[in-house]
Amino acid sequence: MSTQKGSETPQVVVVDRGQPERERLRAPAAALRRGELVAFPTETVYGLGANALDAEAIAKIYEAKGRPANNPLIVHVPDLASAKALAARWPEEATRLAEAFWPGPLTLVVPRKEEVVATVSAGLDTVGLRVPAHPVARALLEEAGVPVAAPSANLYTQTSPTRAAHVLKSLGGRVGWVIDGGATEVGVESTVVSLAGEVPVLLRPGMVSLEALREVVGEVHTLAEAPAEDAPRQSPGLARRHYAPGVPLRVREKEAIEADLRQGRGQGVGCVVREALRCEGAVAVVLPRDAAGFAAGLYDALHRLERLGVDAIWVEAPPGEAAWEAIRDRLDRAAH
Ligand code: TXA
Ligand code: MG
Repeated sequence: MSTQKGSETPQVVVVDRGQPERERLRAPAAALRRGELVAFPTETVYGLGANALDAEAIAKIYEAKGRPANNPLIVHVPDLASAKALAARWPEEATRLAEAFWPGPLTLVVPRKEEVVATVSAGLDTVGLRVPAHPVARALLEEAGVPVAAPSANLYTQTSPTRAAHVLKSLGGRVGWVIDGGATEVGVESTVVSLAGEVPVLLRPGMVSLEALREVVGEVHTLAEAPAEDAPRQSPGLARRHYAPGVPLRVREKEAIEADLRQGRGQGVGCVVREALRCEGAVAVVLPRDAAGFAAGLYDALHRLERLGVDAIWVEAPPGEAAWEAIRDRLDRAAH
């Protein structure tokens, strides 16, 4: 198979989400061990995986995504013991958070052991670790037998993929294998918490909420609250422009959206709302009213509207409640 950038036709391996067929995962697992790229589903978004112990494999991730070298990757492992094996120090809070939320959509940043190649962590002395809950991710990790570094499987700054089709569209020519396990269920990227300093710091909000973290470990700082020495050289996932669709996105109140559409100011606009719009001919994806349901469908809605060829996307402003924090964060970054 050719490994030239942009020239690969990926092998798409379709597996059953609930009970992934092990024999179908053997070839992509072997490819991971050999240092090739394999895209696979996690419960949050699809990841672009590579062997975290192989510097050349890690270089392929940065190249395929067009990702700047200062943006560290999350390493995926099958269980707590495998996570500890990659940490130079395992803080007490890490055990408590892992017991509460793993497997699941939480990434813990801890001091890094040397065998994790430095480029995984963009040269930082820490490493982000996660035990995913998705049965396909778990089966692949067990089959591969190596820790798998995986950013979201999209070109840098673009909307993360929640279906194999999104991966193929964004990275189709740049990845050898895509494992198709259907739509992901959480829909936004994991919560990222740093345990490298005195007090845990929330680096990226996710569907494991700040409140939920505080219930388990007490004090958790947001980035704004963290003292300079604890704000671990800001998480580049926090870059202003990120998670963005290819067309301008605005977050707007539903009434304003409806008023503009009625007055014909919504030509070529696609909307994402929580309740059907009272306007004829509006192009809109109506997502569930609850935060979990909305998060699960959000990226797919953005991908679909783009595919329809809209010129702009208007998303109904999310509620101010804590449960919507990760959604507000992503929409903020996607808006441009
Ligand atoms: O849900 C997810 O986290 C998905 C799936 C595939 O697991 N992955 C993902 O990866 O969203 P990515 O590369 O798109 O985002 C990784 C985030 C970035 O914000 C990065 O800065 C942060 O994790 N991160 C990773 N390692 C870190 C470290 N050592 N220190 C600080 N931040 C780190
Ligand atoms: Mg990403």
